[in-house]
Formats: sequence, C-alpha cells, structure tokens
Amino acid sequence: MTSRSGNARRTFAIISHPDAGKTTLTEKLLLQGGAIHLAGEVKARGAARRARSDWMKIEQQRGISVTSSVMTFEKEYEGETITFNLLDTPGHEDFSEDTYRTLTAVDSAIMVIDAAKGIEPQTRKLFEVCRLRSVPIITFVNKVDREGRDPFETLDEVADMLALDVSPQSWPIGMGGQFEGIIDFASGDIARPEGGSKEFLGKRDQDPVPEQWAEQVELAQIGYPEFDLDAYRNGDLTPVYFGSALKNFGVEELIDAIARFAPPPRPQPAGNEQIAPSHDEVTGFIFKVQANMDPNHRDRIAFMRQVSGTFKRGMKLTPSGLGKPIAIHSPILFFAQDREIADTAEAGDIIGIPNHGTLRVGDTLSEKNQVRFTGLPNFAPEILRRVVLKDPTKTKQLRKALDDLSEEGVIQVFYPEIGGQWIIGVVGQLQLDVLVSRLSAEYKVEAGLEASPFATARWIKGDTNALNQFENFNRANLAKDRDGDLVFMARSPWDVNYQQEKNPELTFSATKER
Ligand code: G4P
Repeated sequence: MTSRSGNARRTFAIISHPDAGKTTLTEKLLLQGGAIHLAGEVKARGAARRARSDWMKIEQQRGISVTSSVMTFEKEYEGETITFNLLDTPGHEDFSEDTYRTLTAVDSAIMVIDAAKGIEPQTRKLFEVCRLRSVPIITFVNKVDREGRDPFETLDEVADMLALDVSPQSWPIGMGGQFEGIIDFASGDIARPEGGSKEFLGKRDQDPVPEQWAEQVELAQIGYPEFDLDAYRNGDLTPVYFGSALKNFGVEELIDAIARFAPPPRPQPAGNEQIAPSHDEVTGFIFKVQANMDPNHRDRIAFMRQVSGTFKRGMKLTPSGLGKPIAIHSPILFFAQDREIADTAEAGDIIGIPNHGTLRVGDTLSEKNQVRFTGLPNFAPEILRRVVLKDPTKTKQLRKALDDLSEEGVIQVFYPEIGGQWIIGVVGQLQLDVLVSRLSAEYKVEAGLEASPFATARWIKGDTNALNQFENFNRANLAKDRDGDLVFMARSPWDVNYQQEKNPELTFSATKER
C-alpha cells in the first residue's frame, strides 16, 4: 500500500510521431526514476501483456501502441521528492480521440521529435490539441547520435510550424554525420553519449568549443529567445533539449526540466468555474475506461484524474452519471511494473477504479456532488460502417460489446431509428480492425463490417418542437447514440450544410460534450 501524500506532482504525457522514440524514452525515464531496473522491461512486459488477448496482438504485429496507460515514478530533485505521473498515449493517429482525452488529464507534455525527420503532421495535430487545452510543452529532439539534419532547421521548423518561440537549452555539436557531443547551456558541460552513460569532454569555459563549431553554438544561444517560465507555462515558448533516448543521454536533463519548469496540478474547468487543487473536497473526472484489462476477470477500470483534495481509500464519492455515492475500496495506483492499492492520493494523481459499468468517460466524481467538469468531447466520426452479425442469435452480446467498446472510446455506436443495422463510427481505419478482433476475442461475437450509406454524423440540439418536426421528416437519417442522444446521419458534408441552412433553429454539432 502506498502513500505519497506530501510530494509535489508532475502529471504529463509524451506526444510524438510513431518511431520517434517514445517507448525508448519512456523506458529511460522510468529507469532514471528507479521505477524499473533494466532497460527493455517496458517492452518485455508489454509483450507479455499483449500476448494475452487478440486485439493486443494487433499492437504487436504492427509495432504500435494503441492503449494508454499510466506510469508513476518518483525522483529526488533539490532535496524534494517529486512524484511523476506519466500518461502514455497511443502513437497512432487513428487513436487520436483517445490521445485527446488523455491530454485532458495532464498538466504538461513532452514533444519528441526525431532529429532526422522533424515534425510530422501527426505530431502537429497533437500539438494543436495541447494548445487547445493550454498544455505547455517541453521539446526533446531525439536520436542526435545518428546522422541528422542541421539542428537549426529543426528549431526553425518548430518555431514556424507551431508558431512557438523556441529556446534551446543545449546544443549538439557537429550534427549531420559529424556528431561530437552536446553542450548543456545551464552547466556548461560538454559531453557525449557513451554506452548507457556520459563521456564527459570538458567544461565550456575551460575547454572551448572547437573553432569550426564555436560560431554555431554562439548563434544557438543568442539567436533564440531566452527561457521564460511564464511564456512556457502559457504555451508560447518551448524549451528544447537535444539527446538520445537509446543512449540514455539528455534524459536526466529532461526530467530535471519537468521537475523545475512543468506546472504542478492545474485548476480544471467546470462550467464557468475553475476547480483548484486546494478546493475543499475530493473531486476528479474519468478520462478513460478500459474493459477486460485482465481477461480472467471481466473487470473494467475507470481512470480518474484527481483534481482536488486528499483521497483516502474507502472514501465515498458520487459519480455525476449515477447520482448516488459509491465507496471506493480498491483504488489502484499504477507503477512501471505493478499496480498497487492506493491508500491515499492527491490532486494530480491518476487512480484506477474497478467497476462494473457504473463509471463512464466524462463523469465527475466528488464528495459533495456539486462540481461538474467540462471539456471532454466526442468527435464526429469520419468513417461509418454497418455491423453485420455472422450469427444472428448473438444480437444481445453484440449490443453489450458495442456499448462497452464505445464507452472505452474504441468506437462510437449509433442505433438507427429505422432498421436494425447498427452503425459504428471511428476516426481512423485501425480502430475497425481492433473492433472486429476484440468482438471475437473478448465477446465471442463474429461480426463483419460493411459500407454504410452515411459519411458523417452530427449531434442535433434544439427545442422540443423543432426537434420533433425534424425527426418526423428525417427519420431515415436519424439515430441515437449510446446515451440516447439524437444524431443526424449525413450522406455527405453537403447534406450537413443543407440541413443546417434549412433548420436554423437547430444546431448540428461535430462534437459532443461527454
Ligand atoms: P516509438 O515508441 O515512438 O514508436 O519509438 P521507439 O521507442 O520504439 O523507437 C523507434 C526506433 O528508434 C527503435 O529502433 C529505437 O531503438 C530507435 N531509437 C529510439 N531512440 C533512439 C536514439 O536516441 N538513437 C537511435 N539511434 N535510435 C533510437 P527499432 O530498430 O525500430 O526497434 P528496436 O529493434 O530497437 O526495438
């Protein structure tokens, strides 16, 4: 059992393009934090876990990570113990919705860029989400040990593409095939990765940088804005570190940067209010639900980001979706290798709450049942498919599975007002593969997917009269989502515009607050 009550918290995520080195960096962060003892364990453990169920095999085959999880580690920093909560995000863009929700639960992010490749469109999208949520970003330019681009190019690209001030905190000497080492601007150390550690090459003031690089280094340090904590926390500036996750180089500096600069737990929006960590009761919100984490027990774990108060095991909290309190007897804290029962938890922590479907994404949990956190939307799906059952006697199981999986955010489900062919919607193709595979592995339902006549969906709102009238005319294009909310199934984007113009008293929304 675990208590880490007094510690400061840093709750953050890593965003990156697949292959930029997120897994390797995660491993090294945990290693530095003493949470794991051997590099490779994240992957090894991952492989063992993945092997357990079919849908996770997809992850393995394609070498991508599709589920988010939480990893906690602690590190001393200047005499203070800091608890780091690292939320993993799926790297694949087909799971961007899942990533988006995860980003609602963090206070800051690390953006990993491959030194040779720069910013890829996906990373840019994730960055936009961070900006939307005012999540400040520290940049880690990875793989400097390899032949890469001119580092100035990378910095300028970050500045131009993301409209962000960049402030290098270190500098690689001689990239582009002649890598010689990195200068840390704060300490003046010049060092090079050597095996899993540092080969110390000297101090900048005593051993000046070789002449051919001196000007470049000078330019890097004076040619960009100085680090400014407020600008960083406002999301206007990103400090940039160069390093190599694989060689465990620059990782310590990165942890220090999170400890020093990254914001502690932030207030969270609840309608017109902001709930601060000092608010006088325990509050939190569910940003993710994962079913069947352990195939032996049909469990569902709801992940709660704690926003305020000191949580104590056994405490009664009221989920906004349920209205009556539930006692939380076995809250889980996640570590690199283990889960533990949490005795206490603080604002900024993520606790897992096992439940049988009472907790849903977007739910607020609180002692007094007065706060409602806002800002966890559903996105209109971009791909819609009909679900076709191979064995028609399995309708009930299918409905249960679709409800579960839509709750997890793997898919969205729409039940048409006319006809029995249920429609599922996703943001990316890969979600469809995961769906079919999980239906079979976890629910023993064999189903196929076929084309649907619809191209997109919009949630409709308006006064009852207008809604009824619209419903009477458009029944063939209407469905209910999992919550029973009315959805207009559009055959084309044009269709959406047309109906919107024809029915100005209704709103057609591409997102829905959960
Ligand atoms: P991801 O989670 O972002 O998808 O990336 P991952 O960590 O899996 O890294 C992708 C590849 O890049 C891996 O090689 C990894 O070893 C390599 N890599 C990560 N960081 C560095 C670095 O600092 N320097 C160099 N040179 N390589 C790095 P792989 O061959 O695809 O996988 P593996 O066989 O090593 O597991």
